[in-house]
Amino acid sequence: MTRRELLTSMPLLAVSHAARAGPQLEIRAARLRQQIESLSAHGRPSGGSFSDGVSRIGYSDADIAGRKYVLSLVEAARLKARIDAAGNIFVRKPGTNAALSPVLFGSHIDSVPNGGNFDGDLGSLAAIEVLRVLGENGIVTRRPLEAVVWSCEEATFNGNTLNGSRAAAGKLRPGELEGVSRGLTLSESMRRIGGDPARLDETQLRSGAFHAYLELHIEQGGTLDKEGTSIGIVEGIVALDHYDAVITGMANHAGTTPMADRQDALLAAAQLTLAVREVVTQQPGPQVGTVGHLDVEPNASNVVPGRVRLSIDLRDLSTEKLRRLGEAIRARAAAIGAQTKTQIVLTQTQHAEPALASSEVKAVIQRAAAQLQLSHRSLPSGAVHDAQVMATVGPMGMIFVPSVGGISHSPQEVTSWEDCMRGANVLLQSVLALAA
Ligand code: GLV
Ligand code: MN
Ligand code: MN
Repeated sequence: MTRRELLTSMPLLAVSHAARAGPQLEIRAARLRQQIESLSAHGRPSGGSFSDGVSRIGYSDADIAGRKYVLSLVEAARLKARIDAAGNIFVRKPGTNAALSPVLFGSHIDSVPNGGNFDGDLGSLAAIEVLRVLGENGIVTRRPLEAVVWSCEEATFNGNTLNGSRAAAGKLRPGELEGVSRGLTLSESMRRIGGDPARLDETQLRSGAFHAYLELHIEQGGTLDKEGTSIGIVEGIVALDHYDAVITGMANHAGTTPMADRQDALLAAAQLTLAVREVVTQQPGPQVGTVGHLDVEPNASNVVPGRVRLSIDLRDLSTEKLRRLGEAIRARAAAIGAQTKTQIVLTQTQHAEPALASSEVKAVIQRAAAQLQLSHRSLPSGAVHDAQVMATVGPMGMIFVPSVGGISHSPQEVTSWEDCMRGANVLLQSVLALAA
């Protein structure tokens, strides 16, 4: 079948201007690119360029500037934004039947320190572009459409991921709003970006809040790029357990404290870091474990370290396997504490459930990719995403596009502009199909 035959054989979508709503309708690729480049200026290292990536930590000044830029795009699309109690940005485009639940789609714009320009940004800006292009073409779908930019998805604000989407879905743990990071409680941080955490309960997304949730995202791994496949259809997202380890030894003089008498918290942290790797690699499987953050006190070259706080990030599709890995690491921590004369307190600070994508939403994405004649495959996600929180509320699906070299959470994170456009067009067609 030729591309033309394939396109003309498509069922007409139930939208008010159906004649213009087939695959011939496309997002404006040059505009999307220009917007990704402009957003990148907010949080860019000073004197740097696009290729230097971004540090746009959730709730930071750079994040606030990036959100302001996003709001200017909403205005340019002649739409109105609503900030929910957690500071998430929602943009609704009414459908012909206001009684129906909306199709929700989006991502996040906060980044890790020294992060890339595509993680979250692509899915967020493509979501607004979808609404804009539909508006420009006079297309009104049956269901309402809602784009969302989740706040603070990355773990770099307080060590917890998915803050905005978890808050929206009523999944914050007790006391989490009072936790302090970068000098502010999570509540204060939410207020800083226009949220009102006192109203979280009132605005909570409950079952039935949306018809389906879609997220376009870069793969962040190398599967699609290695194969030369354009579109990934996510089967499921891994579970994540996050632990904080606080290791208390005794700060002492680096010149006068004999080696045998030391209670070196950093030495214990080094052993614990190795232990995490040993425990995780002891059995075959795709499970991964990372010690990615250390606070060393007093962090001075002539003082034996007295206290270290470190993060442990464990991921796998099986919650049960993560629990067992956590137990094994706890046992190793106790032994390391005894051997190094330090005290190690391990606290689990987060558990994100694994999430399976809905088979109906996967089929919609698959059909959209096929209709656009794009190569596609199913694959799991090793990165966490707001989509896994949304999967607790309603049907969820994710569209992945290739990450060059599988690099992400780095300024070297790149997705070709062609792939950005392909992913955004698959999002557009999937949204149309779900909203019909
Ligand atoms: C989020 O990007 C994560 O997978 O940590
Ligand atoms: Mn990320
Ligand atoms: Mn992301």
